[in-house]
Amino acid sequence: MKIVIVGTGRIGSRHAVCFREACHEVVTVDPRGGADFGDVARVPASWSVDAWVIATPTAAHLRVLGEILRRCPDARVLLEKPACYPLEIADLQRMVRRYPRSRIVVNDVYGRSEVVRLFADSVRRLNGTDQMKKVTIEFTKNREFDVANGRFVDTQYGEAGYEYFHMLSILRAVLPTEVYQRYLRTLPDVVTPEMRVRTAAENLPDIELYASSAGVIGHADLAGFAFPASAAKQHIACSSIPYGMDLRYRFADVEFDSGRHVTLVFESQYGADPDYKNKHTVHIREAGSSQHVMVSGNHFNEALLLQLEQLRKAAEGASVLRLPEHRFLAGLSWATSTVLCHAI
Ligand SMILES: NC(=O)c1ccc[n+]([C@@H]2O[C@H](COP(=O)([O-])OP(=O)(O)OC[C@H]3O[C@@H](n4cnc5c(N)ncnc54)[C@H](O)[C@@H]3O)[C@@H](O)[C@H]2O)c1
Repeated sequence: MKIVIVGTGRIGSRHAVCFREACHEVVTVDPRGGADFGDVARVPASWSVDAWVIATPTAAHLRVLGEILRRCPDARVLLEKPACYPLEIADLQRMVRRYPRSRIVVNDVYGRSEVVRLFADSVRRLNGTDQMKKVTIEFTKNREFDVANGRFVDTQYGEAGYEYFHMLSILRAVLPTEVYQRYLRTLPDVVTPEMRVRTAAENLPDIELYASSAGVIGHADLAGFAFPASAAKQHIACSSIPYGMDLRYRFADVEFDSGRHVTLVFESQYGADPDYKNKHTVHIREAGSSQHVMVSGNHFNEALLLQLEQLRKAAEGASVLRLPEHRFLAGLSWATSTVLCHAI
């Protein structure tokens, strides 16, 4: 396929490597040097483009999408997440209505991940006989070095803009569809800026999503056991990832009424295996027994290829925009900015 990637920064260049490795023809667009073209208008109009990728900063997504759709109203577009900023959600919907033949998929890596699917299958299997009591999902990393260099500063979604889209994809995988939809419509009980989002409501298991980009670990007890390397263990036990360290503490844990836990731990081989970024483990723990499986694979690349195939087969007008998730994230960013305003 001929794929045009618009924006070849950190994420766009990963798209380019992945699609080239899969033998697709990749053309790049970026005003910075090194790309094939400086902007979308310079891509020859006579070309037949099979798919477009938009990996510019979020602020430019809608503008670039408009340029692509004006040129090619039935374009197949893989759009990086978040699709747009909170105040642009209605504009995105209007644009999709204006181009009813377009096919747009918002990149959803965790929604397409093999290890997430395996984890969700284990949870669903047990959920038939045991009741899901609590779901905890944590994505913590110390990003202060990146922030000092101007990365990971989301002025619109705030903390919710970095990891919450991924965390919602994992939650969507484990909850029955109608329960997940109810969750997205339920006001959380607690939303704190670092950021912790707790929901306890009738007809829902207790759900806590926690993410810190300052390296402050929220639930060392739930996944620390899965890291074999002593350096990782030590920092997790202290609930703190130091400045500059690339350890990522990311897990999803489901606790059942029986006390059993099913836990998915990403990159658990940190410090123990040079290929740790592509090794994830699913653990089932209950009184007196514990078992785990390891899943290997680059789930970012796998998701890109699956979604490219999804776009290739998509009928005209078939888009997956994940708008309820974007509205939920917009609500969280509004809630945290309100909390911060009250605190000042
Ligand atoms: N899926 C994921 O896991 C994931 C992870 C991180 C970031 N993202 C998303 O990916 C997108 C890009 O993030 P990044 O970290 O790669 O940013 P980045 O700043 O590293 O790269 C963006 C690139 O886009 C270029 N650009 C800006 N305006 C452009 C335009 N009009 N046309 C063409 N190129 C243009 C810039 O010159 C830059 O090279 C963001 O929307 C971000 O939210 C997704």
